[in-house]
Amino acid sequence: MRFVVTGAAGFIGSHVSEALLARGDDVVAVDCFTDYYDPREKEENASGFPVLRLDLAGDDLDLDGVDGVFHLAGQPGVRSFGEAFPLYLRRNVLASQRVFQSAAEAGVRVVLASSSSVYGEAERYPTPEDARAEPISPYGITKLACEQLAHAYATGFGLDAIGLRYFTVYGPRQRPDMFFRRVCDLLLSAGTFEIFGTGDQSRSFTEVSDVVSATIAAMEGASAGVIYNVGGGEEASMLGAIALLEQISGRTLDVRHVDRARGDVARTKADVSRIRDALGWEPSISLADGLERMWAWASARVAAR
Ligand code: NAD
Ligand code: UGA
Repeated sequence: MRFVVTGAAGFIGSHVSEALLARGDDVVAVDCFTDYYDPREKEENASGFPVLRLDLAGDDLDLDGVDGVFHLAGQPGVRSFGEAFPLYLRRNVLASQRVFQSAAEAGVRVVLASSSSVYGEAERYPTPEDARAEPISPYGITKLACEQLAHAYATGFGLDAIGLRYFTVYGPRQRPDMFFRRVCDLLLSAGTFEIFGTGDQSRSFTEVSDVVSATIAAMEGASAGVIYNVGGGEEASMLGAIALLEQISGRTLDVRHVDRARGDVARTKADVSRIRDALGWEPSISLADGLERMWAWASARVAAR
């Protein structure tokens, strides 16, 4: 099979690309190496395969001979108020609209990386897909807009699209702005970690290899138009997660509390019964095992410098 992976030099996209290549698929890896974080990290992520440099918000995507598009390119990060917002509109809404247009014309399935942030402060926990979507961050609003655009293209042009609501993904190559990555880097450099608010906020942390298997399973087995939560089985608070990483690393983190970040939800907890029932997927990596793996990656990376 021949797949396009957008955002292939990013954290999740590079893992999806490698998994497809490892099982013998052809991969057209697409990325424009935005400077949201150091593009040299993206070069590192994608060092195992060639990347076609296209800005999906302006350049055309050729889908001739392609069996499916994993659309993971985007502008991530929930702390998205203020001057950054035009980038969220361009890299999430506009880029996705253009991908959907091309995919609808070519009759190609799209698996879209959406986000737990579409729920905002969720109306119930664990949160099923039919819970009210009421994002509290500009980022979450753009991800919900992408889901809705996919629906509009499905209705108007027969687009075959699946939406996956990923819940806080972690593991090797995690973005440097994200919680676990910062904690690992600061444990290694003996720096001070700034925690936003009390640290009692909690997440359904999801290990990236579980995200990869859910994403490929959705391309292969989901019914058109469905939305699935893809979330880890264990919920942890930030303070609890720091304690676990301190135990794994044998180091102590210097923590400073700063103001809670606007747009940051207090809790996520995924109900994954829909994807379990339909595709037989459920998270398989415990937080302790996933963090061992992430710590090994982060410390090896620093040691190699
Ligand atoms: P990432 O920033 O590491 O990867 C995204 C990639 O997309 C980057 O390499 C970037 O250069 C590329 N990109 C952005 N705009 C582009 C454009 N216009 N054209 C071509 N390439 C472009 O982020 P990630 O954490 O790997 O996230 C991947 C996707 O999953 C994103 O859509 C994100 O919103 C979504 N998501 C991530 C998480 C998470 O916890 N990491 C959770 C929910 C959803
Ligand atoms: C993550 C991703 O960054 C989003 O792209 C994604 O869409 C979202 O998951 C999702 O699940 O949909 P977030 O949950 O905020 O967003 O993930 P982290 O950046 O790892 O933050 C986790 C928690 O740690 C948040 O409460 C955050 O406020 C806190 N944090 C993060 C800090 O206290 N300090 C930091 O330096 C970074």
